[in-house]
Amino acid sequence: MILNRSNFKRAYVWQLPVRFFHWLNAMSITVLCITGFIIADPPALLSSADATEIYRFGIVRFIHFVAAYTFVIMILMRFYWAFVGNRYARWSAYWPFTQKALKNIFHVFKVDVLLLNEKNRDLRNISVGHNTVAAMAYIAFFILFLIMIFTGFGLYSSMTTAWFPKLFSWVVPLLGGDFAARLVHHTVMWPIILIVIIHVYLVLYHDWLEGRGEVSSMVSGYKFVVTDRFPKEEIEIIEEKK
Ligand code: HEM
Ligand code: HEM
Repeated sequence: MILNRSNFKRAYVWQLPVRFFHWLNAMSITVLCITGFIIADPPALLSSADATEIYRFGIVRFIHFVAAYTFVIMILMRFYWAFVGNRYARWSAYWPFTQKALKNIFHVFKVDVLLLNEKNRDLRNISVGHNTVAAMAYIAFFILFLIMIFTGFGLYSSMTTAWFPKLFSWVVPLLGGDFAARLVHHTVMWPIILIVIIHVYLVLYHDWLEGRGEVSSMVSGYKFVVTDRFPKEEIEIIEEKK
């Protein structure tokens, strides 16, 4: 099928702070997972030098903590942006309990899970920003991120004199000790990894299926929308970057 692309319009969707958050967040999570794996299962010291001389494990933990601070600053920044950003970045874009959002769930389920192609695609079901299922996955992400931040800074609070981790010193006693806190911290990493894998797959799949520049949208900020087949109320949301 050849799509007539003459009526494709560029829509500015992801603002710079959203893209900045996305890539720094993705990078810090990757670093946190890699260093977390090393902390969980440390390799044997392959050196005859005294352990205090090499400090290799200290470096791994240092990288984990730098990534952890980057991660938490990005989450706070994105939380703020959910109140001041454009309509695609706002908290209301994540609210799944509207009629349109609920209809969109069925559409996404049909396309993403049942892999059914809709012959006469109702473009009202194609979202310009996040689709409803994606938005729900991002809420799940956010909850898991909070658990990692609370357990991570809770564990860190007994190893530092800095004020910020000290704010979380109640977490470890609440969970029943270091062992339980580390267990939660470790276990929650796995659903994060799982959602990341599904997320990247679906971004690539939608890029291929819809041909609207999904992948590059998180770099440039733009997606493409077929204007003449979009209902009026949707057209007005198309904004060209000034
Ligand atoms: C997505 C985010 C994160 C992931 C995937 C992650 C992963 C991990 C893993 C797998 C471990 C090893 C646990 C074990 O089995 O013993 C660990 C340890 C640890 N993490 Fe994280 N972490 C994350 C965020 C954070 C944050 C935000 C902090 C806050 C400072 C943090 C602080 C720590 C501390 C203090 C330890 C224990 C270090 C030690 O005992 O030597 N982590 N992390
Ligand atoms: C550790 C890896 C990753 C994590 C944790 C992650 C997380 C997220 C989150 C939280 C959002 C929502 C953004 C917001 O509303 O502010 C998002 C959206 C998005 N991500 Fe990722 N991401 C990762 C990797 C990737 C990769 C590798 C790509 C490109 C292939 C990608 C492309 C996108 C796109 C295009 C969106 C917008 C999708 C939409 O229309 O719903 N992400 N990602």
